[in-house]
Order: sequence, then structure tokens, then C-alpha cells
Amino acid sequence: MNELQVELKNQLERFRNDKIEPTVEHDDKNESFKMEIFRELGQLGFCGMTLPEEYGGAGLTYQDFCVALSEIAKSSVSYAATISVSTMVQAIINEYGNEEQKKKYLPELTAGQEIGAFCLSESSSGSDAASLKTTAKKVDGGYVLNGSKMWITSGGIAKTYIVMARTGEEGHKGISSFIVQDGMDGFSYGKKESKMGWRVSPTRELVFENCFVPEENLLKEEGFGFKIAMSALDKGRITIGSIAVGLSQRALDESIKYSLERKQFNQSIFDFQGLQFMMADMATETEASRLLVEQAAMYYDLGTPNQKLASMAKLKSTDTAMKVSTDAVQILGGVGYTSEYPVERLMRDAKVLQILEGTNQIQKVVIARSLKKEYS
Ligand code: CAA
Repeated sequence: MNELQVELKNQLERFRNDKIEPTVEHDDKNESFKMEIFRELGQLGFCGMTLPEEYGGAGLTYQDFCVALSEIAKSSVSYAATISVSTMVQAIINEYGNEEQKKKYLPELTAGQEIGAFCLSESSSGSDAASLKTTAKKVDGGYVLNGSKMWITSGGIAKTYIVMARTGEEGHKGISSFIVQDGMDGFSYGKKESKMGWRVSPTRELVFENCFVPEENLLKEEGFGFKIAMSALDKGRITIGSIAVGLSQRALDESIKYSLERKQFNQSIFDFQGLQFMMADMATETEASRLLVEQAAMYYDLGTPNQKLASMAKLKSTDTAMKVSTDAVQILGGVGYTSEYPVERLMRDAKVLQILEGTNQIQKVVIARSLKKEYS
């Protein structure tokens, strides 16, 4: 880590201990997202870290961003995920938006005054994203959206939604991306999901019923929406990876601390070789994940995105988070299974990391396709 990254990490460690930890258990039980925590993170510059300064961002690298997200995730995967997805939305507008769109939407998002959400999945199109059915029919001055989106992170608390909808033929070439805002006529919220983990971060259905979206809210051009979504997910998968690394690190920290203190058979349980080997594996896997995430982020920072590495980083780090958090519960034993210690929450929060922004099976599809191309 460089000097700046150490400083960011220390600042966020203080923040999470002061502002997130005291109520994290209560908020998890009550599914309570606190906008004031998100806004404070915004005031500190953590809600638009990779965006250019001219639009209110901090102009930092994806490697810096990953360090920050890992640190936040040690206390709350939900706040880290909210920032990760909102930054993905900002990156889309910055990369594919015109000057007017950037000026209009980015400052509130980069400042953390408002949240952005990414809307691709539908009830019948999850992994097969190109088969989505929400339609955007061209009319005078804009488009009329009809359909619904499912499992939307920050649904209901976000103000700015990037919505992928069909403007043309079947398949990926008929998909376009739109900026839709909370409050637009015909746009409403459906069912809020009751989830195993990520309970502080709301996940909700979005419903479009003859929702008129003005022409100026189309991103880039008709038919470009699938590529916008896929290229955004390449970055999102790296940042989800960094969240997984933070979660694994916290699970490991809790396991070591507890096993050094807990005594059975007249010795601390850390001194049993069976547990030492578990923790040695947990530490090694966490470090390997961190290095892979860093490497994938570095390629982005150098301007040479590597889709295969992004998928590898997501696959490795999220599988590791699931394994490490499950092992942490095992090491803590009976108390690990209760909410007295954070490891049961970490285990619940880890599961969806293997599912969202492309299941880990989809990551393997991306990696294998890339290998085939390299070797053909
Ligand atoms: N960047 C730019 N363009 C890309 C791309 C990328 N990373 N990946 C593919 N494309 C382009 C291809 O080049 C191709 O274009 P051409 O026809 O012009 O050559 C086009 O997109 C179609 O590509 P594929 O043929 O590879 O598409 P596919 O239908 O076979 O799908 C897939 C590929 C990898 C399976 C893709 O559908 C996928 O990633 N599925 C998972 C979806 C996903 O991650 N959903 C998560 C939603 S968000 C979420 O989880 C929650 C949240 O709130 C954030």
C-alpha cells in the first residue's frame, strides 16, 4: 500500500469504528439504511473516488478505491456495496454520457448527496442479460418504458437509475441504456426483498408503466446499452472483489483474536494445530484474493482493462469470502453462530457476493471464453 492508501485506510477505520460499528447489529436486524452515514462518507470524498475532479470526484485510482471499499466492508458490506454500485453508475455516465448529462447528474452522485443504481436484471433474465424484456418505445421527444427490473441494489433509496431496456431487435443489439430518476411519472417501486444478508442495503423491484423518459436521457446511442452494461460490470466485479477481501480480512481477524483468548483443555484454542492450519489457509486465501483484485484494478488504472482478470478477481475473492467466513463461524463455535459476534453476519453477507454482478459460474464462462480466444 502506498502512503495515500494507508491514510485512506486509517481514516476509514476510524470512521467505521465511530459511526458504523456501534449500531451495525441493530441496523442489520432492522434492515435500516442510514442516509446520513452515506452522506458523511460522501463529505469525506468516498462516494465518487474514481471520478474526475471537474465533476466533483476525487480523481483517485481503482486501486485506491479498492483499498477504501475493503476497509468499509470490514464493518458493513452494505455501505461498501452502496458506494460500489453508485460509483459504477457514475463511471457509466462519465464514460458514455454527453457533457450535459455529466454536468447534470454527476455532482450530486460524486458528493454522496444522492445514490445511483444499476438496473439490468429482470425476473426472467438474470445470467442471460441480453434476453431482457423491458421495452423502451420511441415516441415524440423521448421513449416510453414498460416492464420491471428485479433485485436492484439501492432500489427505493437511489435517485438516479441506469435502466437497460429494449429499443430494437431481440438480443444484445436491441438494448439501450437510459437515465431514469426517482419521481418520474410511471416509475414506481415494487416488492422490497427480504434477504439472508446485505440487510442494511435495500434490494427492490422497479416497475415502469408507460414511463416517459426524455430523449436527452438516452446514453450514447440506441443499441449500445448491452455494451455499456457489460463494460460497467467489468469494473463492478473488481470492486465487489475488494468488498469480499475486506469481509474475509474481518472474519480472519475475529478468528485469530477469539482463538487466542478462548481456552479449552488448558490452552488457548489457537494452539491446536487443527485450527492453526485453518487460519493459515484463511490468511493465505485472503492475501491471494487481495493481490488478484489489486492486479485487476491496476490494469484499469493503466487504461488497459482486462476482463478475464476482473472475472478471476471476483470469482476468487468471493469464493474465498464464503469459505473464510464459514470457517470463522466454525472456529468461534457456539458463539460464532449467534449475533453476539459479527462472524455469522459476515457469513450471511458473503453468500450474495458469489451471486450478484454475474454469478461465479458466469465469471467462469467469461474466463473460459477469454482463454479460448487467447489460444485460438
Ligand atoms: N465490454 C464491452 N462489450 C462487451 C463486453 C464487455 N465486457 N462483454 C461482451 N461485450 C459485447 C461483445 O463484444 C458482443 O458484441 P458484438 O456482438 O458487437 O461482438 C456483445 O457484447 C454480446 O456479447 P456476448 O455474445 O458475449 O453476450 P452473451 O449474451 O453471450 O452474454 C455474458 C455474455 C457474459 C453471459 C453476460 O450476459 C453476463 O455477464 N451475464 C451476467 C449478467 C450480470 O452480471 N448481471 C448482474 C446484474 S447487476 C447486479 O447483480 C446487482 C446490482 O444491483 C448491481
